[in-house]
Amino acid sequence: MYTIQRVLLFCSVWYCTEGSDVEKTSTRKLRARDLGIPFDGTPGKYNAITDVDNVQVGFRTIIEGDSIRTGVTAILPRGSNISITEQRCFANWFSLNGNGEMTGIHLLTESGFLSTPIIITNTNSVGIGYTSALKWIYQQNETSLVNVGDIGLPIVAETWDGFLNNFREFPIKEEHVFEALDNAKQSSSYVEEGNVGGGTGMINFGYKAGTGTSSRIVDTLNYTVGVLLQANFGRKNQLIIAGVPVGQELLDIETNTSSVPDKDVGSIIVILATDAPLLPHQLKRMATRVSLGIGKLGGIGADSSGDIFLAFSTANITDKSSTTKVAEFLSNDLINPLFNAAIQCVEEAIINSLIAAETMVGFGGIRVPSISHENVINILRKYNRLNDSTH
Ligand SMILES: *[C@@H]1O[C@H](CO)[C@@H](O)[C@H](O)[C@H]1NC(C)=O
Ligand SMILES: *[C@@H]1O[C@H](CO)[C@@H](O)[C@H](O)[C@H]1NC(C)=O
Ligand SMILES: *[C@@H]1O[C@H](CO)[C@@H](O)[C@H](O)[C@H]1NC(C)=O
Ligand SMILES: *[C@@H]1O[C@H](CO)[C@@H](O)[C@H](O)[C@H]1NC(C)=O
Ligand SMILES: *[C@@H]1O[C@H](CO)[C@@H](O)[C@H](O)[C@H]1NC(C)=O
Ligand SMILES: *[C@@H]1O[C@H](CO)[C@@H](O)[C@H](O)[C@H]1NC(C)=O
Repeated sequence: MYTIQRVLLFCSVWYCTEGSDVEKTSTRKLRARDLGIPFDGTPGKYNAITDVDNVQVGFRTIIEGDSIRTGVTAILPRGSNISITEQRCFANWFSLNGNGEMTGIHLLTESGFLSTPIIITNTNSVGIGYTSALKWIYQQNETSLVNVGDIGLPIVAETWDGFLNNFREFPIKEEHVFEALDNAKQSSSYVEEGNVGGGTGMINFGYKAGTGTSSRIVDTLNYTVGVLLQANFGRKNQLIIAGVPVGQELLDIETNTSSVPDKDVGSIIVILATDAPLLPHQLKRMATRVSLGIGKLGGIGADSSGDIFLAFSTANITDKSSTTKVAEFLSNDLINPLFNAAIQCVEEAIINSLIAAETMVGFGGIRVPSISHENVINILRKYNRLNDSTH
């Protein structure tokens, strides 16, 4: 029965994406919705952070030999024009648990602006990510580094891939960061998920995970919210999908074929974009709501977790050249639908990162299985939570 469903799913996926740039990767990975996992809210066209106009994403995945499983993710907040005035966005951030790193956030808090690309990579590569991003910006526009305060300090965030990846070799080099940024500059709206970019070696709730994305259209206001995240946290028994204790159920029926300890030792980095006109204090509120999406999955912001989130708005900041600036912002009493959208996007993007990731064998022969799509479908069906219109 499952085999038949899979064939049908594959056909419908192919049909939906026919004619779009997804065709280039004709073997598009399945996403949470393809399995019939139910979600609230209306996603954008790609159900990705790139549904927020001008946001671009690029990856450099590094899988070499038996022991290198890592990579770099790059996000351009305002498209491929890297000039300061073009990139500047209102932004803010929130740390649910600070056992991790995100550079550049002190200046970001001080100025209220994000004005550089964002890099997400592994823990040991924050330094190379930072210097390489600065070099790349410089290469785009040689006059842009006259005063570093003008351009902002690069945002580089990390999670730890040390189970599957031999990070002791420091495999990420400058050219990998350049390639991720160049790929973002040339990218289309389709965003790959799972074992790609910085998410290549990541593990979530005991299963292989990595990069995930999702978006929502806030119909009443015609704004878009999108997230891209790198998920690497949680224990198996914590996992909740669509309100169902999927992790507990999986522990009952599965043989353990993982070689990593079942401990909540990872982290999660979440980047949230919106075209809604929000000021930095409102973006702080958006960033805090990311925590609630993680909570819906069963995450607890564990002691050794680096759970750090950044939210930015691509809305137009008018009168760019004048001394006094004019900015529009959404009335606070209308912001709840955006909070809701943020929470929904985070929940779906984390599940997408699990569903898209494939089983990986890495450093020292360590094996981390992907979550079984068939088991997830059967457990949701048992709890009457499967979206039957998908099947
Ligand atoms: C169920 O699946 C249908 C068809 O794919 C989709 O239109 C609908 O939004 C889904 N409902 C939920 C709650 O996810
Ligand atoms: C980038 O933006 C700057 C400043 O607005 C503008 O002068 C320049 O022409 C733009 N470059 C490209 C390639 O669009
Ligand atoms: C290059 O950077 C300078 C200094 O920040 C800026 O004034 C100029 O508009 C940028 N040029 C382009 C083409 O982006
Ligand atoms: C909604 O927003 C999009 C993107 O900004 C715009 O292209 C579209 O015209 C808007 N639609 C309505 C009904 O305002
Ligand atoms: C699975 O086995 C590995 C290796 O023995 C162990 O470290 C891990 O905690 C086990 N996972 C679960 C969920 O029991
Ligand atoms: C931003 O606002 C200014 C002033 O209202 C306008 O001239 C400009 O076209 C707007 N830019 C965009 C991208 O909407």
